[in-house]
Amino acid sequence: MQDDAMHHQSTYKPSTGFEKWMDRRLPIIRLAYDSFVDFPTPKNLNYWWTFGGILAVCLMIQIITGIVLAMHYTPQKDLAFDSLEYIMRDVHYGWLLRYVHANCASMFFFAVYIHMFRGLYYGSYKEPREMLWILGVVIYLLMMATAFMGYVLPWGQMSYWAAQVITNLFSAIPVVGESIRTWLIGGFSIDNPTLNRFFSLHYLLPFAIAGVVVLHIWALHIPGNNNPTGVEVKTKKDTVPFHPYYTVKDGFAIVVFLTLMAAFVFFAPNAMGHPDNYIPANPLSTPPEIVPEWYFLPFYAMLRAINFNFLFISSKLGGVIVLFSAIAVLFVLPWLDTSKVRSMRYRPAAQLWFVLFVADCILLGYLGQKPAEGVYVAMAQAATAYYFAFFLIILPLLGILEKPRPLPKSISESVLKPSTSETPIGAQGQAAE
Ligand code: HEM
Repeated sequence: MQDDAMHHQSTYKPSTGFEKWMDRRLPIIRLAYDSFVDFPTPKNLNYWWTFGGILAVCLMIQIITGIVLAMHYTPQKDLAFDSLEYIMRDVHYGWLLRYVHANCASMFFFAVYIHMFRGLYYGSYKEPREMLWILGVVIYLLMMATAFMGYVLPWGQMSYWAAQVITNLFSAIPVVGESIRTWLIGGFSIDNPTLNRFFSLHYLLPFAIAGVVVLHIWALHIPGNNNPTGVEVKTKKDTVPFHPYYTVKDGFAIVVFLTLMAAFVFFAPNAMGHPDNYIPANPLSTPPEIVPEWYFLPFYAMLRAINFNFLFISSKLGGVIVLFSAIAVLFVLPWLDTSKVRSMRYRPAAQLWFVLFVADCILLGYLGQKPAEGVYVAMAQAATAYYFAFFLIILPLLGILEKPRPLPKSISESVLKPSTSETPIGAQGQAAE
């Protein structure tokens, strides 16, 4: 990364008496100014870069609606379900709080998947942004834990049986598995202590996420943003100040995103949920099918794809290992990809494998909600194999074998004189200038 961007000089000038007073004691206004007003940002960021801001908004919405919901919710197994019905019917705007919280959880995952695929495509995880990426994966893990525990709180049929299935995974661990599960759920079965601790942790973890997000943005601001070319900022000419350029662009994207969310909240608030969760939890009646929320389906498909024993590893343990490896591989991604070229914009071969990878994840999601039998299992096995091959074989080999297209010398060059292959149709005249 270039020195001038890395050691960006503060341009903040305290104007009022209060600002001057603060600046000598706790220069927090200076920090905010240098981070979000005058921060030099690549001038070519496209809309895929607005999802970080969208995610920050999602986190805030979840925390605010969650705190108010918690004022009316009761984490007790005989009262939890009814307390939610009470929120929906009697608490003023309780239905709105609950539907926003539930749908924003889904939208949060939708945004995080786009954010991650964006990072994958543009090579944002590569040197010097490895820590930024790793902190992202930590956030993602925390998000999954938070969402899973939140889903248990309504104490409906799906809540109860999802808790049953997921905590059961731990009992696959040899020797100590059963003890770990007992310790995690606070007894020998999913019961009141489970509900209570899940509520406690579901309230706590979002604040842990917020803390890691601060580190994430800190780690972003040291090297600065990557950009669609993957070519680092060379001079000030490659950047624009964050405000007003990206405050406005992010702001617009946030409004569009919230409009989409409002469409769900007001017109299809239960579209992303499972109807069985409107049936109170019943330990004596297993639902015909236990399916997780859509955003966990790809992992669920991988878990169930392992329906065979392998050496001394049971199919159950094998599924759990594959499930955890699917996330673990993301942590080492920066060291698996051998390509010197950062952005896939200049890696046609990588683009192809990337599109297949996205399709593979969608296919896994589809298979996760199908019964684990016959052709579905075979397909899930093939899709799981490709998921791992992409990271462990294709990305390492591609960097050595592929022939990337020539890179622009700088961001400015790519914006002003796109190479023939990236010239938009109809803009050739401008490009020739
Ligand atoms: C609560 C969740 C998250 C929040 C609030 C968040 C926030 C942000 C923000 C504000 C940015 C800068 C704007 C942008 O590039 O979109 C950013 C960049 C980035 N994030 Fe996240 N993020 C979250 C989760 C994740 C996850 C799960 C990953 C990956 C596993 C990740 C990886 C990255 C990377 C690699 C960048 C650098 C992008 C670049 O400059 O090319 N983030 N994040």
